[in-house]
Formats: sequence, C-alpha cells, structure tokens
Amino acid sequence: MTAGDTYRVVSPGRVNLIGEHTDYTGGYVMPLATDLHTSLEATPARDVTVSSDAVESSYSFATDDLERTDDWIDYVKGCYAVLQEEGYEPGGFNGELSATLPMGAGLSSSASLELAVMAFLNEAYDLGLSRERMALLCQRVENDYVGMSCGIMDQFAVALGEDGHALLIDTDTLGYEPVPMPEDLAVVVFHTGVSRELVDSAYNERRETVESAMETLDVETSKAISEDDLDVLPALQAERLGYLARENDRVEAAREALSAGDVERFGELLVAAHRDIAEHYEASCPELDFVVEAALEEGAYGARLTGAGWGGAAIAIVDEADAEQFAESLRATYTEQFPDLAPESHLVIPSAGVRVEKTD
Ligand code: GLA
Repeated sequence: MTAGDTYRVVSPGRVNLIGEHTDYTGGYVMPLATDLHTSLEATPARDVTVSSDAVESSYSFATDDLERTDDWIDYVKGCYAVLQEEGYEPGGFNGELSATLPMGAGLSSSASLELAVMAFLNEAYDLGLSRERMALLCQRVENDYVGMSCGIMDQFAVALGEDGHALLIDTDTLGYEPVPMPEDLAVVVFHTGVSRELVDSAYNERRETVESAMETLDVETSKAISEDDLDVLPALQAERLGYLARENDRVEAAREALSAGDVERFGELLVAAHRDIAEHYEASCPELDFVVEAALEEGAYGARLTGAGWGGAAIAIVDEADAEQFAESLRATYTEQFPDLAPESHLVIPSAGVRVEKTD
C-alpha cells in the first residue's frame, strides 16, 4: 500500500442451490456466488470512515474503538475485532459502499459486506490471508461479534465462488469442488416479502436440537448419521436428524445430476429437499410453500426455499429462454394469493468470489 492508492472491491452475494441447515453440522452444501454484489471503493487512512449508498448513512471510528452499535457498521467493526484478536493490525480507510445486491432478501448481504471489507484490508495492508481464512474470519465476525451463530456456507461461497459454477462444499473438512451449471439454465430467486424476524431464535433452537442429538449419537458430522440409528433419540431429534441425513445424500445426488447435465433429476431433488425441510425441519412457511408449488405449475424443473427459511426467498430452476416470462407470471400468481406482500425476483448468474483491484 502507498498513500493515495484506491481500491475497488466487488463482493458477491450467495444463493444456496441445495444443502440447507447442514453447514453447522459438518454436512454438504451447494451454494453459488451471485453477480448481484456489494462494491467498496476505499483508500487507506488512519481511522475508518465509511458511507453506504443503500442505507444513506455513514460512520467513523478509530480502529481501536470497537464497541458494537447494532447497525450495519458492526460488520465492518467486527472485521477489525477478529483481525486484532488474531494479531493483525490493519489501518483504517475512507470508503464508499454501494450495492446491486438487495439487503435482507436472503442473498447474504451481510457476508458480502464482511468479505468486501476483509478482502480490502487483506490487499491494502498485505495481511497474507487465503480466501478460506478470510471466509472463516468473517464467519467469526457473525458468530463472535454480531452474535449470529451461522455456519460457514455464506462466507465460503462469497469468498470462493467461481464463474459459471456452484460449489459443493464439505463443511466438515472445508474441501470443495466447483460444479458447472448448465449454461442454458437460469436460477430465479423469488423473495416472498415475508421478513424473517423470528429467524434467529428458530435457527438457534434448531442448532441446539441437532447438536445435542449428534452428541447423543457421538457423531461429529451429519455425514455420519444413518437413519437406522435414530430410534434411540427422542422423536423430535430423530425427525430433525433424519432430514439432515437425507439432505446430505441429496446434495451428493444433485452434484451428480448437474455434472451429468440431468436437469430433470436436479429439479426433482430440489423439490424433495423443499418438502422434506418443510415437513421434518419445519423451516418453511405458507408463502414459501406456495411459491414452490406455483413455480412447478409454471413449468420450473425444481424449486425450493433457499437460506435459513421461515420467510425470505425461494429459488426456481428454469430454462434461461423462459426466465423473464416465468418470473413475471410467478409474481402475478403470488400477488393474487398474497396481495399485501411485496415480493421481489432476481435472475442470478453464478459468479466469481470476492475480488479486489487497485484503481490507480
Ligand atoms: C443461514 C446461515 C447459513 C446456513 C443457512 C441454512 O443462511 O447464515 O450458515 O446455516 O442459514 O442453510
């Protein structure tokens, strides 16, 4: 870094194709990084001053003033907090944030922001962090600083996404493999307009249930759960773990189907995943269930909720040529059923993970 250097960071969002609620149990997930992204233009400075177009607000803080504010700036402060805990001492910056990625739409805008900041600090202050390490540190921003006990999926997808590919990630070993997305397929993200206010408590409750059940079974990863072993558990724990075991199998099958270009099979797996998570993990809601069934009626290969659930967004897989028309008519059907909600839809293109360039 030399004084006056300006950096431009492009940090994608993420959409999960399949493998839901498995990432905090050491299971499989298959997300992709989106073309919708957060941008950060930043110049190194002593303190931090950062403004956001999207929420029209700005904050300044000294890099040793890391008190939480319960606002978006915590994702920036949190990066400093975890880096300092690890012995790094990056300086500040003057930065401007803008985004094509909508906030609160289930597309991981928070992971996108964390990685934009982390990747900038890594580059500008020569921290020497790998992409995997940046993802893990950003997960700690959520877990330890913000107080959201998420898994590693979002940060990993944002850090390591690849153009034209989804990523199959084994969240136990953090091994991953790019899975090519057929070029003529489109991923439509449909946000139900149902905000996910109860998500944090329901999410943490699911986590506690499955963690204690896995402890009883003495398994470290949900990949090791067999449905035959579940009858020693109380009924609710058995139900939740049964879902996880089947979901891991479906992720592997989905990878096979995509690699073989078998879109019909891929679509069936998505639908099976949705029905299973709705019935046995109870992470759906009537609006998401409606979107999935309506998407199938409109001719989608498959559809399912994506992200934590209990509101938020669903994805539908359709031929690219039909995507615009599909999204429009899905929206019309949905609005007729739920006239008071304001849904949003996006076509997302599988894209590369966070990237930083020096602009002068
Ligand atoms: C949220 C979390 C992820 C993951 C999903 C559910 O998006 O941030 O880590 O657990 O829910 O699959």
